[in-house]
Amino acid sequence: MTTTVIDDIGLLVTNDPVLGPGELGLLTGASVVFEEETVISVGPRGQIADERIDAAGRCVIPGFVDSHTHLVFAGDRAEEFTARMAGRPYDGGGIRVTTEATRNASDAELARLLAARLLEAHRAGTTTVEIKSGYGLDVPTEERIVTLASRVTTETTFLGAHLVPAEYEGRADDYVELVCGEMLDACAPHSRWIDVFCETGAFDVDQSRRVLTAGRARGLGLRLHANQLGPGPAVRLGVSMGCGSVDHCTYLSDDDIEALAGSDTVATFLPATDFSTRQPYPDARRAVDAGVDIAVATNCNPGSSYTTSVSFCIALAVRDMGLTIEEALAAVTVGGARALRRPDLGRLTPGSRAHAVILEAPSYHHLAYRPGVPLVARTIGPLEGRARQLTSGLPT
Ligand code: NIG
Repeated sequence: MTTTVIDDIGLLVTNDPVLGPGELGLLTGASVVFEEETVISVGPRGQIADERIDAAGRCVIPGFVDSHTHLVFAGDRAEEFTARMAGRPYDGGGIRVTTEATRNASDAELARLLAARLLEAHRAGTTTVEIKSGYGLDVPTEERIVTLASRVTTETTFLGAHLVPAEYEGRADDYVELVCGEMLDACAPHSRWIDVFCETGAFDVDQSRRVLTAGRARGLGLRLHANQLGPGPAVRLGVSMGCGSVDHCTYLSDDDIEALAGSDTVATFLPATDFSTRQPYPDARRAVDAGVDIAVATNCNPGSSYTTSVSFCIALAVRDMGLTIEEALAAVTVGGARALRRPDLGRLTPGSRAHAVILEAPSYHHLAYRPGVPLVARTIGPLEGRARQLTSGLPT
C-alpha cells in the first residue's frame, strides 16, 4: 500500500491534546504520514513515505466536517433572499418552491447539481458532508434524494418531515403517517439518520416524536431541527430522545442549556442561516461555558443558507457568536465529527482519517482574520473523487 507524507508543516492542528498543547493539539515543524485513507504517524518534519506533499511551512488543519447540509435540490431562491434583505421575514414556506423544482428535475440533473456543490465544498476545505433529503416530500422523490446522497456519503439523513407538502395542506397528521410508513420504508435502507423540522408552521412536538420514534425503530440515528425561528420545546425533545445533534439552536433558554449540558446531544449552530435570514445569532458562548458539546456547520440549502463555505461560518462564529477561533475551528472539525458520532473524523492523529487542508496561511487564525478570502491551498479528502464518479457516464 502506498504511503504519503504531508511534510514541512509550519503549524499543525491535530485536535488531539495528547500530541500537542491545547485542545487543538498544536505542533510546529511537523509532518503527517498516511496510508491509503488512514493516518499512521504524526511527528517532526522529515518523515519518509512513498509520496510527498510539501506544505512549505504553511498551516495544516483537519478537513472540515460539515454535519448539516441539504445538498440535493434543484432551482434557487435568490428572489426570496433579496426580498428578505428588503425586510420580508423567513418562515420556511419556500421549501415548497424548491420541492417543486426538485420533483421536476431528472436524476442526471440532480447528480450534476450535487457534484458541482461537492466540488465547491471540496475546494473550500470540506472533506465530509452530511446530506439531508427533504425537497421531495413524496415517496419517489425522497427515495431518489437519499439514494443519490448515499452514493457520495455515508452520512445521509431522511428528512421527509421537512414541511407538509401542498397536496397535504390541512392534513399534517396524514402526511406524518406517510412519512412514518411508506416513505420511511423506501428511504431507511439508504439513510443513516432521520430528522424532523420541529417548529411552528412545520411539525409540532407530538408529530416530531412520532417520526423520530418510527425512524429509531428502523435503526436510524436521530437528529432534529430545533429552535430555529423561536424558542420552544424542540431542543428538550431532542435531548430526551437521545438525538445525536439538535441543529440551529438559535433560541436557547436556560432549561435548554441545562438539558444539553447534561447530555450526549451536540448543539449544532448554523450561523450562515442566521446571517441569511436576519435572525439573531445564538449565544454559543453561554452554551460552551455551561459545558454543552457544540458543532458549527453550513446548512447549505437554497432557502436559508446558500453557502458551502465553512470558513465563512468560522468567521461568523468568532465575530458574532462569541467563540474563540480555537473553539470555532474545533466546532467545524471534531465537533462536526461528534455530531455525526464519527470518532474517526475531524482529527489528524494515528488511526484517524487522513482528511486534511493545507491553508494558504501560516496559522488557522487567518480563517476568521481574513474573511471571504479563499485560504484553502489544497484539500486532501474524498469529495472531489466522489463528485467526479457521480457525473462520469452521464450524457453531456
Ligand atoms: O435548515 N429549517 C428548515 N430547513 C432548512 C431551510 C430550508 C429552506 O428554506 O429551503 C434550514 O434552514
